[in-house]
Amino acid sequence: MSLFAIGDLHLHFQSELKAPGQLYGPVWKDHEVKFRENCVRMLSGEDTLVLAGDHSWGKKLAECEQDFRYIAGLPGHKILTRGNHDMFWEAKKTAHLNKLFQPELTFLQDGYLPYRDHALVATKGYTFEGPFYLNRSRQVIGWDEAEAAHAAKLVLRELERLRGSFESARADGYRKFIMFLHYPPTSILEERSGFTDMAEEFGVEQVIYAHCHGESRFHDSIEGTFRGIQYHLVSGDYLRWVPKKILD
Ligand SMILES: [Fe+2]
Ligand SMILES: [Fe+2]
Repeated sequence: MSLFAIGDLHLHFQSELKAPGQLYGPVWKDHEVKFRENCVRMLSGEDTLVLAGDHSWGKKLAECEQDFRYIAGLPGHKILTRGNHDMFWEAKKTAHLNKLFQPELTFLQDGYLPYRDHALVATKGYTFEGPFYLNRSRQVIGWDEAEAAHAAKLVLRELERLRGSFESARADGYRKFIMFLHYPPTSILEERSGFTDMAEEFGVEQVIYAHCHGESRFHDSIEGTFRGIQYHLVSGDYLRWVPKKILD
């Protein structure tokens, strides 16, 4: 019985593909076939697979049906967390999604789920992604201040959600935490952030995030051990569609 994670499947069995790079990038060719084969090889029905956001290009539920059927057909228990492209998933509708799809799929956002003696805490997160202004050597020499101020507000909202999730898990007796974000925990300007500080405050063992796909973005944030916590990027193309084992 193990816990695995991956993100950014960006399925489009029945919806319009919004990222043409997905058609031409060799790593994306038949990615849903490669991913299913890897899952069948690596996971049993007792395992749990967390999909860390950006599941489908479908704008509404009716455009995601085949994508959900594909996910439901993968081995193990499936937990879906929310990404910025999951337009079918309004923040307040998580309970409704669970009513529709459990037990095949479990949707987790702004809350926690138990996994043995751990609490899996998840929210979408947010990070400032520019626009940045670069010099000729491609060093960042400035950024859009209005966008940065807007991003700071969204970060605060997500941090509030995250704190509420940690506190409810702690009130229920959990002391061991795995934290899932869709966005990376730090922007390209930051070494630390409210997300890394909160992970440290609650003694999180691992921070799992996705969203950074395409090779130029693989090193936008923290990977490996930082101030005693393990950080893992699990975007699908970064992992070459091999789900990452998080816990035995
Ligand atoms: Fe994505
Ligand atoms: Fe994303």
